[in-house]
Amino acid sequence: MDKYVIEGGRPLRGTVAAQGSKNACLPMMAAALLADGVTTLRNVPRLSDIETMAAVLRALGATIEWEGPHVLAVDTRGVDKYVAPYDLVRRMRASIAVLGPLMGRFRRAEVSLPGGCAFGPRPVDLHIKALRELGATVELEGGYVVARAAALKGKRVNLSGPAGPSRGATANLMMAAALAEGVTVIEDAAREPETVELVNMLGAMGARVEGGGSAEITVTGVDRLEPCEYEVMADQIEAGTYVLAGAITGGDVTVEGADAEYLSLFIGTLREAGVTVDVSNGAIAVRGNLPVAPLEIRTGPYPAFPTDLQPQMTALLSLASGRSVVVEGIYPDRFNHAPELVRLGAHVEVTPPTAVINGVHRLYGAYVMTSDLRAGAALVLAGLAAGGETNVRRIYHIDRGYEGMEDKLTSLGAAIRRLEEE
Ligand code: UD1
Repeated sequence: MDKYVIEGGRPLRGTVAAQGSKNACLPMMAAALLADGVTTLRNVPRLSDIETMAAVLRALGATIEWEGPHVLAVDTRGVDKYVAPYDLVRRMRASIAVLGPLMGRFRRAEVSLPGGCAFGPRPVDLHIKALRELGATVELEGGYVVARAAALKGKRVNLSGPAGPSRGATANLMMAAALAEGVTVIEDAAREPETVELVNMLGAMGARVEGGGSAEITVTGVDRLEPCEYEVMADQIEAGTYVLAGAITGGDVTVEGADAEYLSLFIGTLREAGVTVDVSNGAIAVRGNLPVAPLEIRTGPYPAFPTDLQPQMTALLSLASGRSVVVEGIYPDRFNHAPELVRLGAHVEVTPPTAVINGVHRLYGAYVMTSDLRAGAALVLAGLAAGGETNVRRIYHIDRGYEGMEDKLTSLGAAIRRLEEE
């Protein structure tokens, strides 16, 4: 297992480019299953989550090859199995994205139940409901979601969940409905840019999907879909993390290739905290002014503040000039970073779904442990700001979602090394 060793306290300066979006890419790889042939995705980030999805597709009989550093070819001609095994799905719950396309094209799928994750239970009831509404039989057997259908028939399906729309269920329903009979209308669909990206890719494959980006998506089933070539959008969460690296170190960082419109609420929130953010020509430039002003934020489905940037924002607010309140509107228990930030000198008290952060003047280096991807990013940010040496352990979580994080941060002037844990 590797760890990061960070000598903090240096303002970061320079420019980095955003990687391709992990969360857009994962369902897009699964969408390749809807056609028979080779689908080529460009701007695919090199991440362990992408390798896990590749392994899931290989388990189904697909051939996956890197044709360039960020070009991935998914050849589905050999697909002859319909089971996504426990050993892979337990590594990454986004593996559930093969459920919809397998049902759409083959009318059968067995996908291991993903189970919980480090920040709480994450059910798949909406995914199951979506398929049942189209006429599939879905049972839970031996820890697997086992789905079959003689035919899938389009219908009006409401996907409201307890925390608002579900991205994953919206993706699965769109993919199954693309090859169903008739018209499916998804009410309370996810509106995230990554969902719109999938809508666009399905369109490029010949699907008839309308309303991407709105709360109602209409899918008119077609008989077959064709493979396509598609360039994956930039990763908004990765971009936001490097923006925060500039802010938390009082530095001057530009992130190129990020879509500022999608990050507009995040950028507005940073400005409220007194951080200078300039947006031009597809680049976001940030100049940190510490201490930041305290804030009250609440995460929620797009266009609200993204939960995937909450831990990193909490790290920044630990250096605010007063008391901040962070309410988690999606995952009430997503505060694994809090006790680790406390080890670095932050004052964070958590009563789910709320964290109260009393800003401190300084953070100090310490040993901290990563428990999930974005918590890990938050600890790296805090370590970059902290005086002295911070050891961030278990960074395999970070490798799930950030390509070459240490290289990008080093190019900005950070002192960060990847070492094998003793
Ligand atoms: C996606 C993102 C993840 C992000 C999350 C919320 C990917 C690969 N992952 O995950 O990084 O943190 O959106 O923005 O894109 N829910 C149910 N029943 C279901 C499905 C979901 O109750 O069947 C609940 C979840 O517990 C959660 C909320 O709905 O509270 C949103 O989850 P969802 O949008 O489905 O998240 P994912 O697609 O898994």
